[in-house]
Amino acid sequence: PADLFPGRSNSQGHDLSQTGTLAAIETARAPLAAGLLPEASPLVAGDCAPMAAEEVKNPATGEVVGLVRPASAADIEAALGNARPWQADAAARAAVLNRAADLYEENYGQIFAVIAREAGKNLPDAVAEIREAVDFLRYYASQTSEDTTPRGVFTCISPWNFPLAIFTGQIAAALAAGNAVLAKPAEQTPIIAALAVRLMHLAGVPREALQLLPGDGPTVGARLTSDPRVNGVCFTGGTDTAQAIRRAMVQAMDPGAPLIAETGGMNAMIVDSTALPEQAVRDILASSFQSAGQRCSALRCLYVQDEIAPHLTEMLFGAMDELRIGNPWDLNTDVGPVIDAEAEATIRAHIAKARAEGRVLKEMDLPEGLTGHFVAPTVIRIDSIADLEREIFGPVLHVATFDAEDLPKVIEAINATGYGLTFGLHSRIDNRVQEVTEALNVGNLYINRNQIGAVVGSQPFGGEGLSGTGPKAGGPEYVARFAQPQAKPHRP
Ligand code: NAD
Ligand code: ALA
Repeated sequence: PADLFPGRSNSQGHDLSQTGTLAAIETARAPLAAGLLPEASPLVAGDCAPMAAEEVKNPATGEVVGLVRPASAADIEAALGNARPWQADAAARAAVLNRAADLYEENYGQIFAVIAREAGKNLPDAVAEIREAVDFLRYYASQTSEDTTPRGVFTCISPWNFPLAIFTGQIAAALAAGNAVLAKPAEQTPIIAALAVRLMHLAGVPREALQLLPGDGPTVGARLTSDPRVNGVCFTGGTDTAQAIRRAMVQAMDPGAPLIAETGGMNAMIVDSTALPEQAVRDILASSFQSAGQRCSALRCLYVQDEIAPHLTEMLFGAMDELRIGNPWDLNTDVGPVIDAEAEATIRAHIAKARAEGRVLKEMDLPEGLTGHFVAPTVIRIDSIADLEREIFGPVLHVATFDAEDLPKVIEAINATGYGLTFGLHSRIDNRVQEVTEALNVGNLYINRNQIGAVVGSQPFGGEGLSGTGPKAGGPEYVARFAQPQAKPHRP
């Protein structure tokens, strides 16, 4: 509610049932005329000499939906040479970021279309994504301050699974503190990134303060995180990648250059025998299979208390049968494609191994006629979260059972993964809620609800341990990390 958070309100998003909204989406996602493919090229404050164009494909259909020209070594050099912190005062920076938020909302039809085509997001996910991006812009605009001094040049590296929201959030925070930004989007989603940067430039962000350098991680990303002219890195993606970036920064940069990293998770949920089964099933379904399980916050390992396990899993499997798997632009779709062939192969190999070991409890059928990278929602039995070797980034839920007496061991096993991003608990016992809350090392803990979709400004998001460095995105300490630390005078 607005009165709990004075001066701030979140984007309203768009009502998909409105005729006008649907018409805008229809127009924007009509087949792309040959020769009119959108292009993502480096946006550098200077001359550009990008590499040859590569195709960007729709994960749901394989159709070419755009072209990307990766940044060359010369483009990166030009961007580093021309980067200049944003000189405008705090109020002016805030006004421009708010204007960018307005432009995102005004252009939602076009943005929908690109996100659906390029990232395979269904329409409710795309709406949520635009809202989150707008929220980041407005929230970080509200955090600009004349007291902050920018660090200088920030490299921002983002993943494909929130190709607009996380891409925008990182940039908005760095700009709110007055830095220059070198933004490298994920390989899979450069088109939405280019559109976002164009809108931010249109809103008034100077080109020297925001430059776009598309390209892959090991070349463009690696260069942008190993140059002494860079004063800090903001990264969201896999834990291994964050560790590689940390090593590169230590070699190349000033020892004080911060790495703000939000990484992977091995997220668990515990459902005890006092839970309301209908509610738990609804929340398990959303946490595991919304966005085809491609959220860092998604539920990977469900622990169900022995006594209720047969009933709860039967209800869960029944509910899964109601999920509609399909193309992202179909309004009925609950579960869309995974991002690309590599992701599909990795997830399928994991399921195949479990099948061979007789551990697949439930596997949905894919509807006929789908041509893209689809994986059917699947449930796999395990004994403990310790059995999971790595984060499986797709619509796969692992289920284990526990005896009430063994709850401390379950918590110990969850903590022992070393990850600590999201966790869910369904229980009506207050003492248990308190006990579990205190014992778990986790960033975002959700009680009697699903564990995805943190709201900017209300639910700051970020993990502990292998899941991230903090501070939490969408929280009050985030922008300050992009500025020079300053000691405040102590007035006794
Ligand atoms: P990824 O680590 O493969 O890639 C992320 C970004 O890093 C991409 O832009 C990529 O090009 C770049 N990159 C790769 N190697 C690099 C290198 N050596 N140097 C510099 N940059 C490099 O991750 P992904 O597959 O795009 O995203 C999925 C992962 O992201 C999952 O593990 C997920 O949990 C995590 N994630 C975390 C959060 C969070 O808030 N904690 C949010 C979204 C995604
Ligand atoms: N902030 C995103 C969520 O909570 C990752 O699902």
